[in-house]
Amino acid sequence: MSEKQVRVLFVCLGNICRSPTAQGVFEKLVLDHGLADKIFVDSAGCSNYHAGQAPDKRSINAAIKRGVDLSSQRARQVQAEDFEKFDYVLAMDRKNLAYLNSVPAIKTRCKVKLFLEFAPELNVAEVPDPYHDSLDGFEYVLDLIEVASKGLLKEIQS
Ligand code: 4NP
Repeated sequence: MSEKQVRVLFVCLGNICRSPTAQGVFEKLVLDHGLADKIFVDSAGCSNYHAGQAPDKRSINAAIKRGVDLSSQRARQVQAEDFEKFDYVLAMDRKNLAYLNSVPAIKTRCKVKLFLEFAPELNVAEVPDPYHDSLDGFEYVLDLIEVASKGLLKEIQS
């Protein structure tokens, strides 16, 4: 693993469901591996619709059942500077990725990818937007994110 701190930014549309969930799950994995000082984790939204808000209650409730506390997170919109600050900028779906690729910014530092590229065994490309879905949708988001988080940590450690 690199001596330098590795920085990971998860991105969805609103930054209140999927990317805060990914932040919380991946942060816990990093903490459990004793790597909290080596890997910095954050999340952001393509939109500013929910800027300043806590994650959706349904995401908070689903995550806490798996030992992940999202409640202190607050939404923010992705900034051009994020592409200089972060090593990985990971989109939840293809629309998020298209938005990220459209932001005029210096992108020489970071890898801008779909998060589920780190979980090829799933054969699923996107973490679907659960906002208008049933509670099962929030569990499915967690299932996908847990697998991809392990794959991402492996890649960072390799
Ligand atoms: P997220 O979910 O992108 O996973 O945070 C959404 C949250 C809010 C909206 C859409 C998606 N919205 O349209 O307000």
